[in-house]
Amino acid sequence: MNECTPILDTGLRGASVASTRISDVNGKLGKLIYRGYLVADLAQKSSYEEIIFLLLRERLPQKDELAELRAELNEKRKLPREIFAAMEALPRDTPPMDVLQAMVPLLAHGDAHIKERELESSMKSAVNIIAGLCSITTAWERIRNGKDPVMPRDDLGHAGNFLYMLKGRDPLPEMVNFFDTALILHAEHSFNASTFTARQVASTRAHIYAAISAAIGSLSGELHGGANVRVMEMLKEIGSSDMIDEYIEKRLESGGLIMGLGHAVYQVDDPRALILAPMSERVGKITGDTKWYELSSEVEKRAKQAFKARKKMDIFVNVDFYSASLFYAMGIPMDLFSPVFAVSRVCGWAAHVIEEQFALAAPKPALYRPGASYIGEYCGPDECVFVPFDER
Ligand SMILES: CC(C)(COP(=O)(O)OP(=O)(O)OC[C@H]1O[C@@H](n2cnc3c(N)ncnc32)[C@H](O)[C@@H]1OP(=O)(O)O)[C@@H](O)C(=O)NCCC(=O)NCCS
Repeated sequence: MNECTPILDTGLRGASVASTRISDVNGKLGKLIYRGYLVADLAQKSSYEEIIFLLLRERLPQKDELAELRAELNEKRKLPREIFAAMEALPRDTPPMDVLQAMVPLLAHGDAHIKERELESSMKSAVNIIAGLCSITTAWERIRNGKDPVMPRDDLGHAGNFLYMLKGRDPLPEMVNFFDTALILHAEHSFNASTFTARQVASTRAHIYAAISAAIGSLSGELHGGANVRVMEMLKEIGSSDMIDEYIEKRLESGGLIMGLGHAVYQVDDPRALILAPMSERVGKITGDTKWYELSSEVEKRAKQAFKARKKMDIFVNVDFYSASLFYAMGIPMDLFSPVFAVSRVCGWAAHVIEEQFALAAPKPALYRPGASYIGEYCGPDECVFVPFDER
């Protein structure tokens, strides 16, 4: 045993590991705050570009600042040729999250500011990655289907460009608005697993591209960003409302999880899910198919009842529960649900990396290096005696 105490075999639940000015999650009240603003307000009144500015620069932008950011994003959405060539070389069935994770470090090579340890250089790199991830995700969808990537358009914003580059046709303005709101809602969530990963990598003074590439790997897991795909798989497996009870009983009986329910921090419904649920219904109505929204809503109701009856405790919906049926109704392929999450969350990751790099929060962040409790039971209380290979 080393001298570190206490031992936390609990995924660091309840432990505060750093100071941050970026966001706060109040799990008891179901409040999510970006830089002092309620996310529910931001979702209603702002745009994803404003959120980028707010998270990176700690305040809302003025008109000229927003115009400048939009122009910079337009420029950076045009990917370097090498990135297209690298994607073309990949097997077509490479999972999209793996593609994103592999391509982000390649963006670093076109970044002339990468070696400068200046705040403004990191801001530029952040915008480069935010813009680049949108283009990489949509280009991969085209390339893996044997189509040419669609070049971005300067007259569209971030949400509009994503949908346009994905489908190759003008997106409906209502869909752009819904997608923009979804991007705002997924942009930041304090010290979740992927953000902690990004900060941990940044604490070694690795560059922002390395930190964000690692965060994408973390987000790909089904207990994190991968959950929205698993929610959609669950809805498809259930298929119709008469099969819900049987599915839930089987899952709970076998100790399995019902995806999209439960959260490490919220003890009430996730405030983002409360906004995404009506959006899912409205998009379903626009596209003429509300089946998946209705099924989600019924699963939520019955799973909450079954959970309470079995475990004598409440369970709540998280962000992934309704984003699944929303993204599905928007015609986004299921294996792009997590990449869409990354396309949004990248801006929160970047803000955290910059906070880690430039110590905007006090006290100055240190290299993360926790201890661990070694369970050394191999050779009794003593060290093992090494037996050479030939004598074993
Ligand atoms: C997100 C998650 C990892 C949080 O886990 P956590 O903080 O460890 O949750 P808790 O330990 O407080 O859970 C308490 C109990 O509820 C159970 N539980 C939690 N979420 C559950 C779910 N979605 N389905 C079934 N049971 C669940 C746990 O197994 C635990 O049961 P136990 O006491 O018998 O062991 C967990 O809820 C989960 O795996 N959810 C499904 C995946 C998901 O939607 N992820 C996206 C998160 S944004």
